Amino acid sequence: MEETNKEVFEKVVKIAQSRGFVFNASSIYGGLRSSYDYGPLGVLLKNNISNNWWKDINNDNEITIYPVDTAIIQSSEVWKASGHLAEFSDPMVDHKPTGQRFRADQVPDDINKEDLTEPRQFNLMFETNIGPVQNENSTVYLRPETAQGIFVNFENVLRTMRAKVPFGIANIGKSFRNEITPGQFIFRTREFEQMEIEFFCKQEDQGEWFNYWVNKRMEWYKNIGIPDSSLRLREHENNELAHYASKTVDIEFLYPWGWGELEGIANRGTFDLSSHEKESGKDLTYFDPLSNEKITPTVIEPAGGLTRTLFALLCSSYDEEEVNDSVRTVFRFQFNIAPIQIGILPLSKKDELIEVSEKVNTLLRSNYRTEIDITQSIGKRYRRQDEIGTPYCITIDFETLEDNSVTIRNRDSMIQERVSIDNLLSYFIDL
Ligand code: GAP
Repeated sequence: MEETNKEVFEKVVKIAQSRGFVFNASSIYGGLRSSYDYGPLGVLLKNNISNNWWKDINNDNEITIYPVDTAIIQSSEVWKASGHLAEFSDPMVDHKPTGQRFRADQVPDDINKEDLTEPRQFNLMFETNIGPVQNENSTVYLRPETAQGIFVNFENVLRTMRAKVPFGIANIGKSFRNEITPGQFIFRTREFEQMEIEFFCKQEDQGEWFNYWVNKRMEWYKNIGIPDSSLRLREHENNELAHYASKTVDIEFLYPWGWGELEGIANRGTFDLSSHEKESGKDLTYFDPLSNEKITPTVIEPAGGLTRTLFALLCSSYDEEEVNDSVRTVFRFQFNIAPIQIGILPLSKKDELIEVSEKVNTLLRSNYRTEIDITQSIGKRYRRQDEIGTPYCITIDFETLEDNSVTIRNRDSMIQERVSIDNLLSYFIDL
């Protein structure tokens, strides 16, 4: 990582932790490496991203996307059929002098390559046991992708929702991978959240739908505030395609250390439905009323990471600027994405001002995410609100008691306006 980018990365991580977005997991016990908990602001931000995702994938009248929320622990036969038991592994090498383990393609530069063992395959699925007796039949796995929960529910959704191809099924939820080399904060963790869509279409339309999803997903990242210049598309070479994919295009983000995956859009063909049909013996075809025949739909899969998107947003929203000889730090979140949209800051803790603050909060809180902030000096409170990316702050001062007006401060321009409390709601609605 270049020195300046490393500095930015470290500052983003520091603010995320000190301001309540992300905490080290089990921190009171010294932490668990590469495990993270999401704090109050992190959860708000994550919810805003996922709500926006659901809204966006449902905004096209031409297609229907059905939501599901499937189990993390499925029958082990699911992972046999999907190929994960046989194929979901990374080549791993051990460093003989220290016993450290690395992914073969991610060995740090300062390690002497002659001290490494030959690569061995290492399955990334977490294994556990179900029920009171532990034997080979009790072994189950934590899902490494949400996708399979969708495929095994294809027939359930088709039947109960009377779905017509083309349609999609979408799931947001946790996935688990025993990554050999996790790291870079929440970029690659062993427990993370995915946002996946399996889109079922006719084979002859696969090219069209593939392009549709690449464009739609790329637009979405821009719409939530990631700048165009930090996004690019990269098609996978044949030798990097996953075992199920005939074509994959990644949406990449410019992380502080360089370009890397944010989302993959894959053509999974009929691989999954055919494999589950074979393994389960159940009919997973679709009766096409136009051609009067049964078909196995082709699947286009936009697979994104919720926690990784949150990280990309933190990185791309982070900004510093010099104001009156000191540095102001800001997360420039969009209004619809910001964890707190409006901070309400009474100038002092005097009862009269707190009373008005609560009145203003009641007025706004059913429409917006608000927070009354009374701790510390007004300067420090502005600084905190800037650091957590609050787009607007409302200050209630002693003049408010006389003229029923408040000061609204814009985070980015820092311009302050005096607005009557009677007009506050319409002020924000008009934004
Ligand atoms: N169903 C296909 C699938 O899971 P993937 O490219 O392995 O494809 C999709 O994962 C997305 O999930 C990635 O683009 C990334 O955003 C996120 N992701 C994958 N592994 C991750 C990890 N260890 N930590 C955080 N996010 C991860």
